[in-house]
Parts: sequence; C-alpha cells; structure tokens
Amino acid sequence: MKTCFQLLGLLAAAAVGSAATFDPLSHVNLFIGTVNGGNTFPGATIPHGMVKVGMDTDGDNFAGYDARPEFNVTGFSQLHQSGTGGAVPLSNFKLFPVPECPAFEQCLTTIASRKTLRNLLPDGTPDDFASPGYFSTNLSTGVRVELAATRRTGLHRYTFPSTSTVPRILLDITNDGQISAISPELNINPKTGRMTASANFATSFGPGRYDAFACVDFKGEGYTFSGPSEWGPYKINYPDKNGVDLSQHYYRNHTDIKTNDPGWGSEHGGLLSFPQDNAGTTSILARVGISFISTAQACRNAEEEIPDWDFARVVEDSEDQWRDILDRVQVDMENVDPDTVTLLYSSLYRTHIVPGDYSGENPGWKSSEPYYDAFYCNWDTYRTLFPLMSLHDPENFALIVRGMIDIQRHEGWLPEAREAGKPQFIQGGSNGDPILAEFFVKFSDHAAKLGVSATDLYNALLADAENQPPNWNLQGRQSDVWKEKGYIPSDTTYPGGANTKQVSRALEYAFDDFAISQVAKILGKTSDAKKYVSRAQNYFNSWNPNITVPDGSGFTGFMQPKFANGTWNFTDPRHCSVNDPLKATCFLNAIRRDGFYESSPIVYSQYVPQDTAHLITLQGGNAQFIDRLNWIFDQNYFDSTDEPSQQIPFMYHYANAPGLSTQRSRQIISTWFNTSLIGLPGNDGAMGSYAFFYLAGMYPLPATKQFLLSSPYFPQISFYNPLFKKTTTIKSINFTGNPVNGTGGNVFVKSVKVNGKPYKSNCYLEWDVFTTGSTVELELTDDINVNCGTGKNALPPSISTGGYN
Ligand SMILES: *[C@@H]1O[C@H](CO)[C@@H](O)[C@H](O)[C@H]1NC(C)=O
Ligand SMILES: *[C@@H]1O[C@H](CO)[C@@H](O)[C@H](O)[C@H]1NC(C)=O
Ligand SMILES: *[C@@H]1O[C@H](CO)[C@@H](O)[C@H](O)[C@H]1NC(C)=O
Ligand SMILES: *[C@@H]1O[C@H](CO)[C@@H](O)[C@H](O)[C@H]1NC(C)=O
Ligand SMILES: *[C@@H]1O[C@H](CO)[C@@H](O)[C@H](O)[C@H]1NC(C)=O
Ligand SMILES: *[C@@H]1O[C@H](CO)[C@@H](O)[C@H](O)[C@H]1NC(C)=O
Ligand SMILES: *[C@@H]1O[C@H](CO)[C@@H](O)[C@H](O)[C@H]1NC(C)=O
Ligand SMILES: *[C@@H]1O[C@H](CO)[C@@H](O)[C@H](O)[C@H]1NC(C)=O
Ligand SMILES: *[C@@H]1O[C@H](CO)[C@@H](O)[C@H](O)[C@H]1NC(C)=O
Repeated sequence: MKTCFQLLGLLAAAAVGSAATFDPLSHVNLFIGTVNGGNTFPGATIPHGMVKVGMDTDGDNFAGYDARPEFNVTGFSQLHQSGTGGAVPLSNFKLFPVPECPAFEQCLTTIASRKTLRNLLPDGTPDDFASPGYFSTNLSTGVRVELAATRRTGLHRYTFPSTSTVPRILLDITNDGQISAISPELNINPKTGRMTASANFATSFGPGRYDAFACVDFKGEGYTFSGPSEWGPYKINYPDKNGVDLSQHYYRNHTDIKTNDPGWGSEHGGLLSFPQDNAGTTSILARVGISFISTAQACRNAEEEIPDWDFARVVEDSEDQWRDILDRVQVDMENVDPDTVTLLYSSLYRTHIVPGDYSGENPGWKSSEPYYDAFYCNWDTYRTLFPLMSLHDPENFALIVRGMIDIQRHEGWLPEAREAGKPQFIQGGSNGDPILAEFFVKFSDHAAKLGVSATDLYNALLADAENQPPNWNLQGRQSDVWKEKGYIPSDTTYPGGANTKQVSRALEYAFDDFAISQVAKILGKTSDAKKYVSRAQNYFNSWNPNITVPDGSGFTGFMQPKFANGTWNFTDPRHCSVNDPLKATCFLNAIRRDGFYESSPIVYSQYVPQDTAHLITLQGGNAQFIDRLNWIFDQNYFDSTDEPSQQIPFMYHYANAPGLSTQRSRQIISTWFNTSLIGLPGNDGAMGSYAFFYLAGMYPLPATKQFLLSSPYFPQISFYNPLFKKTTTIKSINFTGNPVNGTGGNVFVKSVKVNGKPYKSNCYLEWDVFTTGSTVELELTDDINVNCGTGKNALPPSISTGGYN
C-alpha cells in the first residue's frame, strides 16, 4: 500500500525549486502495527475524536483493519479502538456498498455473502491509503471508498463504477465485531433515505453493555436525488422491500440473537438503492452521526458537525488539527534515516487517538465538565503517554484530567480501563493516580487556569487511596488490607474482588501512593505527604532477600508473595517469563495465587521507579545491579510488550552507567520497532509514546519533575509547549548518525549544558528546562563508559536518597 509519505514525496519532487516546508503529516504512516498484534487503527479521526471511521476486514486486528491482502473487507464502521487486546471493540454500524444485485430482494446482505477483497497494487499489497484524517481503498467490486471524520460524525464517500446501474448501500446494525448486539432498532424514512438505528452491545475487556445510536443520511455528490429509489430492512440475506423498520423481523425480547435466535438469523440492517448519476460513475456521500444518548442526538451531531457535506473541508479541518499537535515537535533530519523520522511522527500521532472526547455523550450523568472515555488502559498510559502530553499538549491533558475527576465525583473512583461508559478490568493498581499526579506535579501553577480544581483532584486521589470499592477488579484498590498490612496477602480471600496478582498490585499501589505524596507535598499537606511517601516504601514488604533463581545464575533477592501471617510463599522468579519451566501465562485469571501479572517476578523485582537507589542496595550495589540488568536482557526476561519492563533499559542510569542505558534502549528500537506493518512488538497501548521517548533520547518518571536523559536519534529535536509558549531544543553537537544496531558510534552523552552552562547531571533533565524554553547541548562520544557526573545531584532522584524532598 502507499503511505502518505510516498505520495507527498512525489508531490515534493514535482515542486522542485520551491522551499520545502516541513509537514509532519507527511511523516505519519498509519499502517504501522496493523499486522502482528499491534492492533492499531489506520482510519480517519481527529485528535481524541470519539468517532474513528475505518475499514473492517477479516483477520485479527482488533481495531478492524488487517493489511494482509487475502483478508476480505466486511464494512466501514464508525467507532473503533486502537492498540488494545481483549476482543474487537466498537466496530459498530458498518456501511457497505453493494454495486450489483439482480434485484433489491436478491441482494446478499450478510457479512459472509457480501464481503469482498480489495484491489491489489502491482507489488501485491492492497490498494489502501491513509493519512491523518483520511482513509481510502479500492474494492474489487470497483467501488472506491473514502472516509473522513469530525468528533462525533463520520463522512463516507462511495464512488460506484459506471457499470453499477443501481448503486446500493447497506447499514449493518448487529455486527459490531463481536456480534454482541441485542435489541436492534431501525427506522427508515423512505422520502429522505435517513436511517436511524440503535442496539445494545457488549464491551470488550470486562463486564457491561452499552447502547449506541446512529443516524445516517445520504447525498449525491455532483448530482442530486431527492431520496432512495428502493428501501427496506434486511434480515440475514433477505431484504424486505418497502419495510421501514425491523418490527416484523425479530422478537424484541429475545436475549441473544447469536445463540438464541428464534429463527430470523443474527444479522439485521437496512438497505437503500439510489438513482445512478447520469454522468456515469456515481458518487454518494453517507454522513453518519453517532451518539451514546439517542438517535435524535446522533442526527443533531451529524447536522451540526457536517452541515455542508463538504468532504474536502472535513478532511482539511482534521488535517489542521493534527498538524497543530504534531508540529509542536520538530527535528533536524540531517544524517537521519527517513524511516526514523516516520517512526517518530507515527508514534506521536498514535498517542492522540485514545482516550476519546465523548463530551455530551455520557449516558451516566449530566455534567458541564468534559467527558473522556476509551481508557486503554491507565496501566499502560501513565508511564509514558501522559508525560509526553506534558511536554507538548497540556490543554488536552487538562481536559482528560477534568473528565477523569468528574468520573470519580460520580462513581466514587477514578477510571482505570473504560469503554462506552463501563469500567473494564483493572490490570495494575489505581493508575489514574499517577496520571492526575503527573498533571499536578507539572502544572500545579496553571491548574486553575486550565479548569482543574486542585481540591477535587486531591480528593479524587484520596478516594482511590483510602476508600475500598465494591469491586476492585473494575475501579479503585483493595485498599483495606493494603492499609492494614502494606502488602496484599496471597492466601486469604477478601470480599470485594478477586485476590489475584497480589505482588504486582502491591508494587503498583506503592507507586500510586508515591504519586499522591508528590501532590500532597505541592499542596503543603505535610503530614499526608509523609504518610503517602511512607506507604510508597511498602514495596519492601514484598521483597524476599533469600530467594534465588533455580537456574544457577546466583542472583538473590526477589519480589515474592507473602501470606497473611507474614510468612512467604514461593513463586519461581522465572514464572511468566519465556524461561518459565511451567510455561505459565499470567493474564487476568481469577484463582491465581502466584502473585504476578504479565511479567515475571524477575521483572517486577526491578519495578520500584520511586526508589531505584534502594533497589540497588537490596540487590548488592551498582556492580551487582548492572550484572542483574545484563542478565535480564541476555536471558530474555525483558519484554518490551509488558509494561513493567518498560523502564528497565534506562535503569543503568541509577547505577551511574548511562552509556549502557543508551545502548540497551537503542537496541530495543532496532530490534522491535520499525515502520513496517509488523513494526510493533505487541498491542500498541502506549507503545507510541514509549518508542517516541526512546527516539527522543529520554525516559519519563511520571508524577515527578525529572526525565532520564540519553541521546536523541536526531542532531536536534525541539518541543513547543503551547501553555508556556516556549520551545526547548536538545542539540547533539557531535551527532554523526544512528548506528544500525543501536551502538557503535557517537551516541553516548559525555556532558550536558543547559543554556550554555554545564548542567548538574548528564543523566536527567528537570522539568523547568522545558517550562522556560531552553537550549540543551549534549556532547556525544563513542565511549560507552560515560557517567552521570560528579556533583551531589548527578544521579537521578530516589526516595531513599532524599531525591524528592
Ligand atoms: C474472501 O472472500 C471470498 C469470496 O467470498 C472467499 O472466496 C475467500 O475465501 C475469502 N478469503 C478469506 C481469507 O476469507
Ligand atoms: C483508487 O482508485 C482511484 C482511481 O479510481 C485512484 O485515484 C486512487 O489512488 C486509488 N487508490 C486509493 C487507495 O484510493
Ligand atoms: C416477549 O414479549 C411478548 C410480547 O411483549 C410476550 O408476550 C412474551 O411473553 C415475551 N416472551 C418472553 C420469553 O419474555
Ligand atoms: C533470610 O534468611 C536468613 C538466614 O536464614 C534469616 O535470618 C532471615 O530472616 C531471612 N529473611 C527473610 C525475610 O525471610
Ligand atoms: C502461615 O500461613 C500459611 C498459608 O496459609 C500456612 O501454610 C503456614 O503454616 C502459616 N505459618 C504460620 C507460622 O502460621
Ligand atoms: C503458594 O504458591 C503456589 C504456587 O503459585 C500456589 O499454587 C499455592 O496455592 C500457594 N499457596 C497458598 C496457600 O496460597
Ligand atoms: C521490522 O520489525 C520486525 C519485527 O521485529 C521484523 O521482523 C522486520 O524484519 C522488520 N522490518 C524491517 C523493514 O526492518
Ligand atoms: C547488527 O546485529 C546483527 C545481529 O546481531 C548482525 O548480524 C549485524 O551484523 C549487525 N550489524 C551491524 C552494522 O553491526
Ligand atoms: C564534540 O564536539 C566538540 C565541539 O565541536 C569538540 O570540542 C569535542 O572534541 C567533540 N567531542 C567528541 C567526543 O568528539
């Protein structure tokens, strides 16, 4: 397939002589990670749009689209997610063009009978194109499909071949990707062709169902028609000409149309025929308003957002919004592989797809606050995605934070994972806490101006920390026993949720409490700050110094499950890793007593971002700690797809060996990230922000004022922060390019100057470097034996070394 980059490259080549203006959109490849489990969404959306219009195919991308040519297209649906596991979410209200059938009643409408391949390009890839705000494809039936979006409305353009004498378009109500719909409703206005539809659907990563509503209008482009020439609902493969609703086609009160169908089949929708354009090819626009409130509101959304039916205008508007955000990061591309530039901007682009701005679409309560939904999941995003927002997009960050606080006000706890208004499964702790703290630690002086109430923010944090929820699998924490014991006992059951992944959750709770202590300190709540910083040190309660790995490696001391009576259980430190003799998988599993989620005890034993200095002491000092990190990489315990692993490549910084962090992080990029369809190692989640930081030569410490520092992949990278109206530039004065495998060149940071003055550390930057707009100069060397510097603040901060006081 063609990427935007290639097309714009052709345009640029044609415009020889004109000064090249940098357009970040030309460096975004939306197809990265659409194959091989990245589950990325390559369709049309605005930044944080609710509606994400895209093509659905067979295959296994949960975001709908599979780039492999053998997979058939099943429809063009309106919502979608990006980068998630679980099951297919939100592929609701598919439209599909039907260029040819013998007669209205004989059109085949089920997915199985209508699905069709795409045209192929000479290189064998499908004829698909995508760029921020726009998607198009050519189907083997000769129909060209183009998609664009506003916040709550999709605009589709279907261009039928001249051979299509009766162009038809169907609206599929029941196939949402999981075929979960019950109580489908349809109403067709035969005069105008307006179809309003709704159904009740299942969420994809937890319990709960939601109602969704659509309002579809049609308009000829370049010619006019007053309405459809034929219309009717369909059931399975039976369109019912002249019907206007589904009433005769299903039993309103049956519970599961998939398994419990009374004979009508599981597929329902509406089909319209249109007059052909006399000029030959017929181009029909379909405008699809979506709502989670009502069909009336879905129609209003469409009418308000796209009153002009101007496809080009809708695309340009969304391009402008994308450009405004992506332009805030600028790079010097000299001596940089163009693919690296594409990797950077594509990664940045994907950090603005979820969460979505669902303001006005919350069926749960009325509020004048923003409402954001589609959190996937805070466990993923608190580590790198929101710190990246701090750097370049504090306004959207503030809106998301306000939305999260409003959820806490009404539901009692901050959201963790959320889809269509329903709390979904928690993986780690109450990881909304470090997100709110990240915002407040960095923007406390501007919170009021950004509409964030410090009091409400702090109360929301306290609710997570102190109030045990009815079900900690969905919101909040298992806080009673955490407060009582400072760990989560692995042998006892407690009312209120599954007592699983005890050690993993305890470590996350400790970090959450650290985040709260940071906010308390800023608010001058000294005793609270003391209390939470002390709770942040509870990670130590899960540290068993006497455990060795049964592999002869000699490393001693690991995080382990503990019983309520204070004695230890034993979980092999290799558990859940590629070297686990039992080959256990450690996903959500209600009866587990081994204590760990997704990553091994070996990985979790490095997971104390708030106090790595103490971890080094526990693990025997710098040399031992470095040996252990090397062993983790050499034995493949590190897994870049599992969140607790993500900071590990940068942890050498704390042992005063930042060159090793530079080497590891660059090896990870070269091994796992590229611009191909399989260029992501796993679910995107927050992979975009993770890769972005590595390419920018940084790793963030959420809810703190520090960023760990390495060397960027660019001779110069700058960040514009629209709140401060300041640009900070990081320059590598000895940049000679990026070695293929990560190292073997001038990539190690030997010294750092900020605004011309030697900086206190070569290993991290303070937040004020970015708020004031600074020039950071890095002297690079090819000698891996660099260090953090000699001053007393040269090493990055840790609780036990007084770093956050
Ligand atoms: C695509 O659809 C065609 C026609 O229905 C079918 O023959 C083919 O097997 C499908 N391909 C896949 C991979 O399902
Ligand atoms: C589809 O076909 C049209 C010409 O009919 C062409 O302009 C376009 O580039 C093709 N590819 C895509 C992805 O739209
Ligand atoms: C379904 O609804 C009809 C009409 O409202 C009612 O007569 C019938 O008992 C209901 N069936 C079930 C299984 O609830
Ligand atoms: C570790 O082993 C030593 C020596 O047997 C013992 O004194 C100590 O209590 C053990 N520590 C823990 C936490 O079990
Ligand atoms: C502590 O609890 C565990 C698990 O319930 C039990 O096996 C063990 O015997 C107990 N130890 C003591 C000293 O009570
Ligand atoms: C101790 O750990 C093992 C291994 O994970 C587990 O099977 C067992 O149930 C645990 N024992 C108790 C009492 O929780
Ligand atoms: C991209 O990464 C994948 C996964 O690591 C690898 O298999 C593939 O060869 C890489 N492609 C390129 C073009 O480097
Ligand atoms: C990169 O690493 C691969 C695999 O270890 C090796 O085959 C290749 O020669 C290396 N390339 C360079 C330029 O060092
Ligand atoms: C880096 O560049 C500076 C200034 O150009 C020069 O003085 C210094 O020797 C260079 N350092 C290395 C390690 O190449």
